[in-house]
Amino acid sequence: MCFASGLGATTAVIHLLNAGDHMISVDDVYGGTYRYFSKVAARMNVETTYVDASEPSNLEKAIRSNTKLVWLESPTNPLLKVMDIKTIAEIVHKKDILLAVDNTFLTSYFQRPLSLGADLVIYSLTKYMNGHSDVIMGAVTTSNEDIHTRLRFLQNALGIVPSPFDCYLVNRSVKTLHIRMREHMKNGLEVARYLEKHPLVEKVFHPGLPSHPQHGLTKHQCYGHSGIFSFYIKGGLRESTIFLKALKVFTLAESLGGYESLAELPSVMTHASIPIEEREKTGITDSLVRLSVGLESSEDLVEDLDQALKAVVSIDVGLLFR
Ligand SMILES: Cc1ncc(COP(=O)(O)O)c(C=O)c1O
Repeated sequence: MCFASGLGATTAVIHLLNAGDHMISVDDVYGGTYRYFSKVAARMNVETTYVDASEPSNLEKAIRSNTKLVWLESPTNPLLKVMDIKTIAEIVHKKDILLAVDNTFLTSYFQRPLSLGADLVIYSLTKYMNGHSDVIMGAVTTSNEDIHTRLRFLQNALGIVPSPFDCYLVNRSVKTLHIRMREHMKNGLEVARYLEKHPLVEKVFHPGLPSHPQHGLTKHQCYGHSGIFSFYIKGGLRESTIFLKALKVFTLAESLGGYESLAELPSVMTHASIPIEEREKTGITDSLVRLSVGLESSEDLVEDLDQALKAVVSIDVGLLFR
């Protein structure tokens, strides 16, 4: 079922709940989803507990008698933590709780949460599925007949539906999804491997790299990884700002999943609506840069990052020795 945006799809799913219900969400969730859970759903008396679900026992401990939904992103945004979807599905289904997975980052080409036991899969089609940065649209998929009927009703009753023209554009775009996703993965890995070796880079978070703590789970659960990943630049806000301003091929922008490469600073952009204490707890600091690697030549992308990192060094040579 398609919706007017990814957030519209999220809204419809949360409307499956009733006032007084409780839900559990991954702590490292897209900022707009967090804003919806904490500032809109909370006012309708649907309470959310945020947990680091990359350790499934944390999630199990947060379950209450009125828990009705578990919301995962895997990998998460922006720290790329990977959730064991199958194990979590087994835990929540013992208690009659629905499992929803936001699969925006990987698309159905690289991950199929329904096959891993999820009840609902949410997509911001705005991102990779459409891939051309010219549509805002969302979708929910389910293999549960009852949920399907209830969501069809909500789609009509809430009116969060997409325009026919946007449907036409997305329908056209998914025909090249497999080619685009393979190219995003290839470019993303090349850029990530370059950054991993750079002395000004503290740490790279890319599930496709052996250095990622859940690389094994990723290989087991997914068919690949897209062009989205993040890294800590050495220093703080000053260094990340110099770096982002110096980029020429990467555009400073919030979105992701399009043909063009984007870079952003989650702490002041996509995740600014998350309170600073929460952000610090999860590691979304002013040094965390998120990249959405597009379909340009990977040599141009690496060269661009190289010159932007040089711009940081030329201002603060001491950073190299920290
Ligand atoms: C993982 C994830 N889910 C959902 C959304 C919301 O999608 P939309 O922008 O289409 O409303 C976003 C947007 O950035 C996202 O990154």
